[in-house]
Amino acid sequence: MAPVPLSAISGRRSLTFPWPPLLLLLLPATIFPALTFASPCRTSCGNIPIKYPFGVDDGCGAPQFRRMFNCSTDLFFLTPSGSYKVQSIDYDKQSMVIYDPAMSTCSILQPHRDFAMADLQSVIIPPAPDTVFALLNCSIDSPILNHYKYLCFNFSGHSCDELYGACNAFRVFHLLTNSSPPCCFTGYDTMKFMSMNILDCSHYTTVLNTENLKGVGPLDWIYGMKLSFSVADLGCDRCSKSGGTCGFDTETEGLLCLCSVSSNYTRDCVGGNFTGGGYNRAPAALIGAFIFILLSIAQLTLNS
Ligand SMILES: *[C@@H]1O[C@H](CO)[C@@H](O)[C@H](O)[C@H]1NC(C)=O
Ligand SMILES: *[C@@H]1O[C@H](CO)[C@@H](O)[C@H](O)[C@H]1NC(C)=O
Ligand SMILES: *[C@@H]1O[C@H](CO)[C@@H](O)[C@H](O)[C@H]1NC(C)=O
Ligand SMILES: *[C@@H]1O[C@H](CO)[C@@H](O)[C@H](O)[C@H]1NC(C)=O
Ligand SMILES: *[C@@H]1O[C@H](CO)[C@@H](O)[C@H](O)[C@H]1NC(C)=O
Repeated sequence: MAPVPLSAISGRRSLTFPWPPLLLLLLPATIFPALTFASPCRTSCGNIPIKYPFGVDDGCGAPQFRRMFNCSTDLFFLTPSGSYKVQSIDYDKQSMVIYDPAMSTCSILQPHRDFAMADLQSVIIPPAPDTVFALLNCSIDSPILNHYKYLCFNFSGHSCDELYGACNAFRVFHLLTNSSPPCCFTGYDTMKFMSMNILDCSHYTTVLNTENLKGVGPLDWIYGMKLSFSVADLGCDRCSKSGGTCGFDTETEGLLCLCSVSSNYTRDCVGGNFTGGGYNRAPAALIGAFIFILLSIAQLTLNS
């Protein structure tokens, strides 16, 4: 927290008298109380709402998620292995469903494909525990059939034979060998530590909402991936309550509250309500005094 306001203050190091910038800071708010501010941050992409901590424009949202999205007509989630179409985002449950158009599913067999995330992504937005990876057409030398057998689990009583038998796409594995090549139901951690090449399986598919799939056939599973994201509490509530949009400085990645075209603040929009009718000067004066004290302290610290 501390580095943000400090860096803002140290920018004024050369000033001996802190009043002029302070007045400049408060002037627009005083003169244009009904100023409306068009945020530089898009609030949707296609039919997906974009809210904190995400952003599709640089400088918007939380810096941790920077460059993870691409909004070209539709919203895409970008990882080192490709771009994945975002199907939905549940901001309350902090989950996001993505779909890899190049992944094999019960109805379509596609060429070999790997799934990989950046280290940071594995920490802040990993696949949820109720997303299961089905590794298909594994060679008998695959580590998950030998040393790492324990990484495969019994997925609601479903078997490889069932998958190879029920899905047109996977029947080909069965036909070619006249037996079922091994497969494995596993979690994301297995993929994280071993690439598809090491796993020695030619295909994978992913299934989400797996808690409720006992007795449900592979034709009725939902293919795709649910990611669960975490949001660090960086004080965005305070910024949005004051009418701002949470973002960050694109050079330092220090947090910003985007308040108007001409002013970005570190915590909230000083004086608060730019769009409302009855603008109240009292809070502005109080906050102004607070900033003055902060600046004075900084001045003393820098001079000593
Ligand atoms: C405020 O922040 C946004 C996003 O980082 C940036 O585009 C804009 O130039 C900033 N405005 C000012 C006045 O610093
Ligand atoms: C965004 O996604 C589209 C479609 O997948 C792709 O063509 C484009 O190159 C991507 N842009 C960036 C900056 O990743
Ligand atoms: C199944 O895996 C083997 C290698 O173990 C590969 O040669 C074969 O092409 C794969 N089958 C399909 C249909 O991709
Ligand atoms: C998985 O579950 C099925 C059905 O409940 C059972 O028949 C099978 O033996 C189980 N397999 C393992 C490895 O536990
Ligand atoms: C801004 O002012 C309007 C009208 O007075 C009010 O309805 C709204 O709740 C205020 N917003 C905030 C964030 O205080």
